[in-house]
Amino acid sequence: MKTIKIFDTTLRDGEQSPGCSMNLQEKIEVARQLEKLNVDVIEAGFAIASPGDFLSVQTVAQTIRNAKVASLSRALTKDIDRSYEALKDAVAPRIHTFIATSPIHMKYKLKMEPDDVLAQAIEMVTYAKSLCSDVEFSAEDASRTESEFLYRVIDGVIKAGATCVNIPDTVGYSTPDEYYNIISGVMSHVAGIEKVDVSVHCHNDLGLGVANSLAAIRAGATQVECTVNGIGERAGNAALEEVVMAVRTRHDIYECKTNVDTTQIYNSSRLVSTITGVSVQPNKAVVGKNAFAHEAGIHQHGVLANKETYEIMTPESIGLAENTIVLGKHSGKHGFAQRLNTLGYELDDKHLKRAFSQFIELADRKKEVTDMDLRALVETDSIDIPNEYEIDQFVITSGNKMTASAEMTLVHGGKQIKETSSGDGPVDAAFNAIERCIGTSFKLDDYIVRSVTSGKDAQGEVVVKLTTANNKKATGRGLSTDIVEASVRAYIDAINKYYYELKLEDR
Ligand code: KIV
Ligand code: ZN
Repeated sequence: MKTIKIFDTTLRDGEQSPGCSMNLQEKIEVARQLEKLNVDVIEAGFAIASPGDFLSVQTVAQTIRNAKVASLSRALTKDIDRSYEALKDAVAPRIHTFIATSPIHMKYKLKMEPDDVLAQAIEMVTYAKSLCSDVEFSAEDASRTESEFLYRVIDGVIKAGATCVNIPDTVGYSTPDEYYNIISGVMSHVAGIEKVDVSVHCHNDLGLGVANSLAAIRAGATQVECTVNGIGERAGNAALEEVVMAVRTRHDIYECKTNVDTTQIYNSSRLVSTITGVSVQPNKAVVGKNAFAHEAGIHQHGVLANKETYEIMTPESIGLAENTIVLGKHSGKHGFAQRLNTLGYELDDKHLKRAFSQFIELADRKKEVTDMDLRALVETDSIDIPNEYEIDQFVITSGNKMTASAEMTLVHGGKQIKETSSGDGPVDAAFNAIERCIGTSFKLDDYIVRSVTSGKDAQGEVVVKLTTANNKKATGRGLSTDIVEASVRAYIDAINKYYYELKLEDR
C-alpha cells in the first residue's frame, strides 16, 4: 500500500497563530512528541523570523533523530541562509522555500510580474539545493493560481532540484472537487512530477482543510501538511489526527497508509492543548472529550451489544486506554509508574520521582486519582525551566461583604519577598500581590479555569496568558484542587517563562 508522508507544521504554521506561542522548552517537548508520533517531517519554525525562532529551529534540529526537520524561508537568499544555518546539525535537514504565485498575491503583495516570480523561484530553489539536498518549494496561494502558470513554476523548480513541491490552499478557499482537479492537473501536466513528493497544505477557513487534503490524496498527493488539533493561521490547518485516522479508517477508499503511530495521537493532542492553553472543543473529531462518548440510550445499547454499531474507530487506536483501576494514596511508586506507562508516558528517574511526590500530595487531597488527573500532572512535567520566582506561601481572604486581600511571599534569588494587596476578588488580589513582589505589572490577556475531572474534589486547571510591558507573550498553567492556588501557580508559571525567554534572548 502507498505511504502518505505526514509533514507536521504545528511548530511553524500552528505556533504563529494567535494565542499558540510556545517557548523553547515547550517546542522541544512538542518536537519530541512528534517524533514519538512518527511523523515524517517536522517543520520546526521560520528561522529568520527572530533570534528565538532561529534558536528553536536549531535546537529541534539538534534534538530530533527520526524525522526530517524543516525550516521555512521566503524565496530570498538571506532567509535560505538562515534556515540552512539553523538546520545544519539535523540528521535529515530540509529547506522549505516559498513564493506566492496567484495573480492577487503577485500584483498586490509582491508587486512582481509572473515571469520574475518564476525566475526567483527557480533561482532560490537552485540556491537552496546548493546547500541542502532536500528542498521543498511551496507555490503560496496555489489554489488561486492560474493553472498554466502553476505548471510552469512547478516544472521549473523540479528542474532546479526541488525534492518536494507543495500546492497549498493558503486561504482555505478551495473545495474538495476543485482541489482534486488542481492536484490531478499538476500530476498530469508537469514532467518529472512522479520523481518528487507532491505535498498539500490546506487551511480551514471553510472547514474543508481535512476534506481537501483527502481529496488531494486521491488525486495523487504523496505528502500532507497538517497540525496537531488543527491549530494554525486564522481557522487553522488540516488537523493531523483527522487526516491520519480518516486514511486509516477508510483505507478501502484511500488505499494508502501513513507512518504515524496512532496510539500517540491522544497524548500529542493533550500536550499541544496544555502547552498552548488552547482547549480542544468537546465535539472535535478524534480527540474531543465526546469523540468516544455515547450518550443516547439507543446508542449505548448498540455499543454494548457490538461496539461497531456506533464506533468506527476504537479509543485504544488513538492511545486512549480504557481503565477501571483508580489510584489512591496507598498505590505504590511501581503501580504509579506502570499506569503512566500504559498512558504512554515514559519519565526518567528524576521526573518520575517528582511526579510521584506530586501524586502523593494530590492523593492526600483527593480520594481517587484518575487517568485524567495523572495526565494533567505529568504531561508537561519534563519541561524544566529554571524558576526565577518560587511561591513560598500565601494567605488570601475574600467574602461577599469585604474587599479581597492577599498576603504573598515569594522567593527570588534565595531571598523572601513579602507583599500584601487588595483586589476585586481573591484571584485579582493574589495577582496584584505577586506583581508587587516582582515590582512589575503585566496585562492579563486571558484567564481560563476548568476542572480536570468531575466531582467536588476535582483538580482545577488554570491557564493564564500575559503580555509584558515590552510586549512579550507568556502562557502559564497551574493545577490544584484549590482554584485560587491553581491561579497563583499559573501566574507565577507564566512569569517564570517570561524571565526564562528573556535570559535566552540575552545569551
Ligand atoms: O499557507 C501557506 O501557503 C503556507 C506556506 C508558506 C506553505 O503556510
Ligand atoms: Zn499555511
